[in-house]
Amino acid sequence: MNHFISLLDITGDEARYILKRAAKIKRKLKEGKPHQPLAGKTLGMIFDKASTRTRVSFEAGMFQLGGHALFLHSTATQLGRGEPIEDSARVLSRMVDGIVIRTFGHDIVQRFAEYSSVPVINALTDLTHPCQILADVFTFEEHRGSIAGKTVAWIGDGNNMAHSWINGAVTFGYRLNIACPDAYCPDNRLLEAARALGANVTLSKDPQAAAHNADLITTDVWASMGQEEEQAIREKAFAGFHVDKALMAKAHPDALFMHCLPAHRGEEVAADVIDGPQSVVWDEAENRLHAQKALLEFLLSPE
Ligand code: CP
Ligand code: NVA
Repeated sequence: MNHFISLLDITGDEARYILKRAAKIKRKLKEGKPHQPLAGKTLGMIFDKASTRTRVSFEAGMFQLGGHALFLHSTATQLGRGEPIEDSARVLSRMVDGIVIRTFGHDIVQRFAEYSSVPVINALTDLTHPCQILADVFTFEEHRGSIAGKTVAWIGDGNNMAHSWINGAVTFGYRLNIACPDAYCPDNRLLEAARALGANVTLSKDPQAAAHNADLITTDVWASMGQEEEQAIREKAFAGFHVDKALMAKAHPDALFMHCLPAHRGEEVAADVIDGPQSVVWDEAENRLHAQKALLEFLLSPE
């Protein structure tokens, strides 16, 4: 059973193959040529948290691939009334061909996958957001060519996105410089596991040093979904960890800026950076569609 719960569930070669397919699938869509390898297939999409990009890219993507997507907000299903994850996984996977889950605890997706008879895709947990990295690497490479050997700087919270950038350093072979406040570092076990697999990752509390000569600067909100009540305390902790023009100037002159979105202008990123010439955030958002269509094709198509 092929699940996509972590980037490390697929090999580097498989990830490369998915991005190659994403480019072809994107081209076909732009040329108006239908591509429907998933005709007759259904994707169940369980969301415990809000979403714009992830939900729409999976739902539109599944439709474009010839299939059908079911949006299942947990409060409108028996999951929200306490039906066990193990039971829900066994039931739903007898009816659909793939399942996407966005939730809080990472263990929920893992338990779901254990009992599912169809592929399960992690659409974001508190720990990781692997689908976003597929789109982000795809976007970088569209603009700048291979990301292998390039330097990515992560500025801010050691959160689910930071964790997926760490795993991506194994899969895609870029160097990753992380700058975060002491109390908001990434999970050390995940970091050490990635390093053991060859990831080249530095960790500091110095955004300037992390950004030095970087080819890509990326960041994310200071308070993720579920941490809203920590907003004020986090604003204090992350002062100095925002991406502004001065920080972009430390990077390579043709460095790109990315953000998974939604963004808070004036907090983790200055408006003149996210809306400026080095920012590729709209391509990045669009590429969620193309990268996930390639992922769906890879996991659900018999060929
Ligand atoms: N980047 C991202 O996952 O966006 P949504 O929360 O809107 O899905
Ligand atoms: N770190 C953010 C990412 C949103 C796409 C969150 O989990 O809310």
